[in-house]
Order: sequence, then structure tokens, then C-alpha cells
Amino acid sequence: MNPLTATPAWQALSDHSSSFKQEGFRCGDLFKEGNRFGDFSLRHEQLLLDYSKNFCTKGTFNLLLNLAEQTRVPEAIEAMFSGEEVNSTEGRAALHTALRTPAASNQFPEVVATLNRMTDFVHGIHSGEWRGCENDRITDVVNIGIGGSDLGPAMVTEALGAFASKHVNVHFVSNVDPSHLNLSLTNLNPATTLFIIASKSFRTLETHENANSARQWFLDAGHDKAQIAKHFIAISTNLEAAREFGIDAENLFPMWDWVGGRFSLWSAIGLSIALAIGMKNFQALLAGAHSMDLHFRSASLENNMPVLMALLTVWYTGFFDAHSTAVVPYSHPLKQLPQFLQQLYMESLGKRTTPEGKPISTNSGEVIWGTEGTNGQHSYFQLLHQGTEFIPVDFIAIAKPSIPEKTEQHKQLLANCLSQSLALMQGKHHPDNESRSSPGNRPSNTLLLAELTPYNLGSLLALYEHKVFVQSVIWGINAFDQFGVELGKELSRSLYGAFEDSEQRSGLDASSQGLMKQILEWS
Ligand code: F6P
Repeated sequence: MNPLTATPAWQALSDHSSSFKQEGFRCGDLFKEGNRFGDFSLRHEQLLLDYSKNFCTKGTFNLLLNLAEQTRVPEAIEAMFSGEEVNSTEGRAALHTALRTPAASNQFPEVVATLNRMTDFVHGIHSGEWRGCENDRITDVVNIGIGGSDLGPAMVTEALGAFASKHVNVHFVSNVDPSHLNLSLTNLNPATTLFIIASKSFRTLETHENANSARQWFLDAGHDKAQIAKHFIAISTNLEAAREFGIDAENLFPMWDWVGGRFSLWSAIGLSIALAIGMKNFQALLAGAHSMDLHFRSASLENNMPVLMALLTVWYTGFFDAHSTAVVPYSHPLKQLPQFLQQLYMESLGKRTTPEGKPISTNSGEVIWGTEGTNGQHSYFQLLHQGTEFIPVDFIAIAKPSIPEKTEQHKQLLANCLSQSLALMQGKHHPDNESRSSPGNRPSNTLLLAELTPYNLGSLLALYEHKVFVQSVIWGINAFDQFGVELGKELSRSLYGAFEDSEQRSGLDASSQGLMKQILEWS
């Protein structure tokens, strides 16, 4: 295929972009014509995307949609859903969508069987049928995992705190820094704690170390190895390694190669979510994602929410030198969403070549960052308003108050959200001193959810997953591998050895040697 920049659509977009860079262009002026909100917003069930505050006219979208056609986005969408090897570098399909297909139409009996097992397991814990080794009910669940085996489950569990089951508290431990596990275990009782070792590969250093420490903590409380089975379960593709760790075969939940780590919260990796909010709510999360899958697969490109959002990002990174996107949920429960999206985006799109190793012809993979509003307004928003960087923003807002009796405070929250996107677009000129002016012309999307429910959250997350996929197709990269993270892992193994081995240490570069010497002295 032609490099992206050689496509006729790219060339046309390049010409077209100049009209938005002219002196005197005001994004706000675009609202003077027609029904801008009607033309540039799209609703899917209880999710509304307002993309009117962007640098675009209908003409812009005609060209962007041509780009999607010329980069074969429709074919790629179909290839992903139908299980083709879209992860070509690893020779795998990417079928996370199959994890949320309803049982009646699901073509993967192993997915349905695993969900049934999860249902039984959650019931066992919540009802108290599952007992710890001293015949106590399980009161606390600790998910030990990292990356995709942590970020999605931790974020969803917090986001859906309003749906939390009264039966168990769920905790998440990821960092190899022992203080993370220590802190989490401080008030827990080994006899009433269940550990979930969540690791697709079961070879991840952090998870391995934390799992071993947790097992030791359990044994140090006077338990023996035979009792581990009642307190440790695992989710992995590597069932053998999990068994070697001491997990009972009955307590092993499978995963499959065709589910990427960062797309895995819908699989048994979501067991911590299901334990936190109950299986019915977990099923609702899957159903919401499935509904977005159906939309993504069947809607025309111009009415396709993930496609429209992806095209806007391609537009800004390609023609407006945007290097990052801020995601700002005006919802405290959603405060971990930006971290989750960081892995989803940057592990998927942080690449500079095609799967065949040829350099791609444009910038790709912008930095994703952000925190919850309104807190962000009092830290980094200054830079969004007046800095030199051009940073498109995704605002996320929830119409229904999270606490019913706090409607007035919730209105304050929403007013802040709407006012920030307006201020970014309009700016304000100060006649006497430019340092007081805000230039405006800073684009944003607003995603409005009717309510923060499991179903709507499922739709929102699937929306972002599909947006990432579309960007990868247009940029010509594989969204589903992550070879970049391997080098750091390999080096950490050899540097770990060098702490004990002076000969190995002397072979290191001067910086690593110097730092290591100082660490050894100080520790
Ligand atoms: O950071 C690299 C990575 O492989 C992620 O893609 C993955 O989500 C994470 O490590 C954890 O991997 P695992 O689930 O195999 O422990």
C-alpha cells in the first residue's frame, strides 16, 4: 500500500488544513453556520459525542472519510471482527470482541464456559459457600497483576464503586516496589483473603515477585502449602506455570492468545471486577461493550463514533502538530480512566514502523494524559489554555449525579466541564497585555454519558478500544503487539544480576555502574 502521505486524501487534507491555520480563523465562528451541534454530534444509546468544537466543516469530514476509505478502514474492521490475523507480527487474531458476544450467538464455547465458571465462582465467594482454610468467609480479594492485568480491572472497579457488592473488598497490587503489597496487606487477615494472580503470560516479573511475597505472607501466618488452594486462584494462558506456582487446577481460569493484555478486562482477567460488582453487573459491562461493537461494525463511516473520533486525532497529529491528547473525566469515580487509556493507546500506537518494519510516513501515537476534573483545572489547565502546545481534549461528563441528593454540586461539576471546553474554544483577548489573553482555538470533544452504569461504561471503553484500532489502521501500524517493552525487561534481568556480581557490574556502561555503586553504598 502507498505510504499514508501519498494517498490523494492526505494530499487534499493537507491543502484543506491551511484554511484553519489562517490569521483570523476562529473555531467559534464555525457555529455561525447551520445547525453545528446537530451536524457534529452523534448519539449511541446513552452516550453522546459532541465533536462540534473541532477544526472541521462538513468538507473536512468528506476528506477524512475519503482517507478512511483509502486506508481500507472498513475492510480492517471486518477483518478484526471475523478473526483474521490482524496481529500479523505475532500471527494472531485480536478477538476481544468475542469476549462480549452474548452466549446465544457466541461462536467460542470456551468463552461461554469460562463466563459460567466465573459466575459459579463469584456466587461461591459472595454466598460464603467458598470458605477459607479456617472455614471463614472471604472478606478481601487482592488482584495481583500489572499492565492489562491490573489497569482495566482496577479502573472499572473504582468507576463502578456505586455498584459494589457488600460481600468483599477488592484491592489491586501491581508494582514490584514491595511497599505496594505491604500497604495493601496492612489490615488484611490471611484467613479471609483471596489472591487472584492475574497474568496472561505468568512470566511477568512484578506479578511473580508479588505473588511469591503474598504466598509467603500467607504461609508466615501459620498456614501450610496444602491450604494455598483455598486462598490463591489464577488467570492465565500459561496454565502449567500457574500450576507450578501451586494453584489448584480447579482454580485456574483460562485466557487465550487472541486476547491482548490491554484488551483483557472482558475476559477472566475481569474476575476481580465481577467479584467487586457482582456477575450481573459484569455481564452488563460486557453487554454495553458489545453494543458498541455492533455499532462499530455496522454503522457507516460518517455515523461511526470510534471512526469519527479516530479521524479527528489523525487530523490533529498529521496537520496541526498535536503531540498529545488530554482525557479529562469530570467524574471522580472515573479518575483512573486516563491511566487505563495510556496503556491502551501508547502500547498499541507507540510505534514508528509498519508490521513489515518500514518507517511510517507521519507522526503516530500521541501521548495520552489527564486526570479527573475539576482537579485538573487547578494544575495543568493553565497550559491547555495559554501554553504553546496544541493539545486537543476529550472531556467526559455524566449527566446523572453520582449521589442523588447532591444535584446542585453535580451541576457545579458539569458547569465546570462545559465552561472549560467553551473557554478553550473561545479564548479571551486582553487589549492591554497579551500575557493575559487566552488564544482559544483549542479543540475538544465532549462525551456525555447519561449515567455511570456498567453498561454505559462498557460502551465507553469499547469506543476507545475501537478508536485506537482505527488510528492504527490509518497509520499503518499493528495495534496488538508491544515489542518495545521487551528491551527494558531484558536489561532489568541483567542489571539485577549485576547487583551481586562485581565482574558483571564492571562490564556495564559508566552511568549504570556509577548509579549502582552509589545504591550499594547507600543501601
Ligand atoms: O508491559 C508489557 C505487558 O506485556 C502488557 O502488555 C501486559 O498487559 C503486561 O505486560 C502484563 O502482562 P501479563 O498479563 O502477561 O503479566
